[in-house]
Amino acid sequence: MTTDDLTRQIRDLHAEATGALAAATDAGAVEGLRHDLLGRSGRLTAILRSLSTVPARERPAIGQLANGVRGELEEAIAQRLGELGGRDLEARLEAERLDMTAPGRPVRVGHLHPLMTVERDFREIFHAFGFEVFEGPEIETDEMNFEALNIPPDHPSRDLWDTLFIAEPGSDPPVPAADGTILRTHTSPVQIRAMRALEPPIRVIMPGRCFRYDAVDASHSFEFFQVEGLVVDETTSLADLKGTLIEFARALYGRDTRTRFRPGYYPFTEPSVAFDVGCLVCGGSGCPACRRTGWMTILGAGMVHPHVLRAGGIDPDRYQGYAFGMGLDRITMLRHEIPDLRLLMAADLRFLDQFAGGR
Ligand code: PHE
Repeated sequence: MTTDDLTRQIRDLHAEATGALAAATDAGAVEGLRHDLLGRSGRLTAILRSLSTVPARERPAIGQLANGVRGELEEAIAQRLGELGGRDLEARLEAERLDMTAPGRPVRVGHLHPLMTVERDFREIFHAFGFEVFEGPEIETDEMNFEALNIPPDHPSRDLWDTLFIAEPGSDPPVPAADGTILRTHTSPVQIRAMRALEPPIRVIMPGRCFRYDAVDASHSFEFFQVEGLVVDETTSLADLKGTLIEFARALYGRDTRTRFRPGYYPFTEPSVAFDVGCLVCGGSGCPACRRTGWMTILGAGMVHPHVLRAGGIDPDRYQGYAFGMGLDRITMLRHEIPDLRLLMAADLRFLDQFAGGR
C-alpha cells in the first residue's frame, strides 16, 4: 500500500467517524462506534497495523497522523458520551417524574368485627378478674358436647341443642358420622378440655363459634358466638359465681346496673341459674324488647355437676367449680341497636365499616 493511499484512508475514516459520532443518538451507539473504530479488530487499529507495509522512511509521519486521529476520536467519543449521558439523565428524569405534591393513595385500615369487639371487652374484663383464655375446636364429638356434660344419648334435654351432624363419609342419603363427629352446639365441651388440660385452681374463659340446626331469621342463626367461663378450686361456691357475674355486668354496663339470679336448668350444672340484667332498652320499665318484664337474660350458669368434674378428670370430693355461658350476638345487637342478626353474619363492608371506630 502506498503512503498516499494510507493517508487518504486515515482522513476518510476520520471524517466518516466524526459524522457517525454526531449522528449517534444514544450512548450504546457511541460505544458501538468505539468498538468498530478503535477496538482490537477496529478499522483504525487495522490501519495502524498495516503501517509495516509502507517504506520505513515514511512511517513516522503516517504513524503520527494515525495516532493523532486516534487521540482526536477518543476525545470526541468521550465528549459525545458526556453529552448523550446528560441527555439520557434528563430524559429519565422527565419520564420518571414524581409529583411530590400529589395526594397519597389512602391505605385501608382494617378493624374488628363488632362481635369481636364485644368478645375482646369480655376478655379484658375477665382478664382483670384473673381468668385466662382457653380455646377448643368447633368440630367436636358427641361425647364432649353431650355425654361428658352429663347429657346421655336420647336424654330429652338434647332437644335444647338442635345439632348439626357431620355426615358419615360416603353415606347417601347422609347419616350422622358413626364416630359421633358433630359441630359443637355450645362452648361447654371446652370445659371438659380445659379440666383435662389444666390443673386446679382453674380460672378460664372460652370464647368461640357454635352451631345449631336453626332456621335463619332476624334473631336466629345456624352459627353464633358464645363465651364460656369455668372456675375450679377447693372452696369455690355459688357466692363466688354470683359475685363474679355481678361485677362482670357492672364492668360491662356500668356500676348501677341492676342484676338478678333466677333458678335455671342445665344438665351439667347443679344448681343452675339464669342471670338477668335490667332491660338494656327501656331500663326496666317494660318494653317489647324485654317482653314487658323489665329484665333481659344474658347468661346461664351454675355449679359444675360432679359427673362433669369427673369427666374432666377432677375429684369432686376435693374440688368444686362454677361455670357460665353467654351469647355474644344479642349483647352486640343491643349495644349497637342492630335490628337483624343476619347483618352480623353477612360480611357486608357497607354495614361493618360503621364499626371502624371500635365500640
Ligand atoms: N351451654 C349452655 C347453653 O349453651 C350455657 C351454660 C354454660 C349454662 C355453662 C350453664 C353453664 O345454653
